[in-house]
Amino acid sequence: MIAAPNLTLAGALRLAGSPNDEPTVATVVANEPLGGVRFDKVSMRFPGSGRAQTSTVAVGDFTLEVVASEFLVIVGPSGCGKSTILSMAAGLTEPTSGTVLLDGSRIRGPGPDKAVVFQGFSLFPWKTVVENIEFGLVLNGVPAAERARRVDYYLPITGLKGFEHHYPRQLSGGMQQRVAIARSLVLRPRLLLMDEPFAALDAQNRTVMQEELVRVWSEYRPTVIFVTHSVEEAVFLADRIVVMTRRPGRIKRVIDVRAITGSEHWREAPLDQVQRRSDFQDLRAEVWSLIRDDIVVE
Ligand SMILES: Nc1ncnc2c1ncn2[C@@H]1O[C@H](COP(=O)(O)OP(=O)(O)O)[C@@H](O)[C@H]1O
Ligand SMILES: [Mg+2]
Repeated sequence: MIAAPNLTLAGALRLAGSPNDEPTVATVVANEPLGGVRFDKVSMRFPGSGRAQTSTVAVGDFTLEVVASEFLVIVGPSGCGKSTILSMAAGLTEPTSGTVLLDGSRIRGPGPDKAVVFQGFSLFPWKTVVENIEFGLVLNGVPAAERARRVDYYLPITGLKGFEHHYPRQLSGGMQQRVAIARSLVLRPRLLLMDEPFAALDAQNRTVMQEELVRVWSEYRPTVIFVTHSVEEAVFLADRIVVMTRRPGRIKRVIDVRAITGSEHWREAPLDQVQRRSDFQDLRAEVWSLIRDDIVVE
């Protein structure tokens, strides 16, 4: 994944307003929470190409309100349109019909207020950890002193202190993914879009990253839309889980996890402890049975 950053990452991190318009931690806390997303009757049809002339309806009539600061997780069978939904929220893809709104305004293109973490790490192999993390800030004209301040803040939080001048090839997969996450967090986006960000990690690294993500998210609580294949990951992380049908993706069920966990969300405890809870296991079984009906073995 070396070609990807030039296209999608630069697009995803491109400046929407002036650097001074960026929400800081202080303004996010002081004002109304930002980052509410509304999908209104959104559909996406991809035209056919080559010999396959039939078009593909990737997403059909998708309506959903994502509340500011919410941690929303989307699960569903492969090909049901999850990445397409994220791409529309990122402003990287225009829906063929319907609208996607961020805090009431139509999303017209990518910007640093909507950061994306992809499954492939898409780091620049020729840039160091610090250079990778500050890439979006450089692109957005943020002055060097402010860049250094923000990078210094997120290095220890993401477990990268001491690795500032390493290159991606010198890091484990887990650490590379931390760089990708830090690169998004330094932008302080009101909307953090994560597309199976931990899918390529081994089980131990994945658990650590899930717990770390919860920690950094609780700090300033951006709205998160997180896509995963893993039912367990969905149940552990989500405030609400959206279960999709197979293509064209529609909403099959929305499960409010907070109604089960109450005021003390179980993600505040380590995953292995939570996994032993019977209510966690019941919910995991329920979500899995909803998905299983829609899986087609191709
Ligand atoms: N750029 C594209 N052109 C044509 N078809 C696409 C494109 N992107 C996605 N699709 C198709 O749309 C459907 C949904 O894709 P995607 O959103 O990637 O699903 P998911 O992330 O849930 O696996 C799939 O059938 C996929 O092949
Ligand atoms: Mg996908």
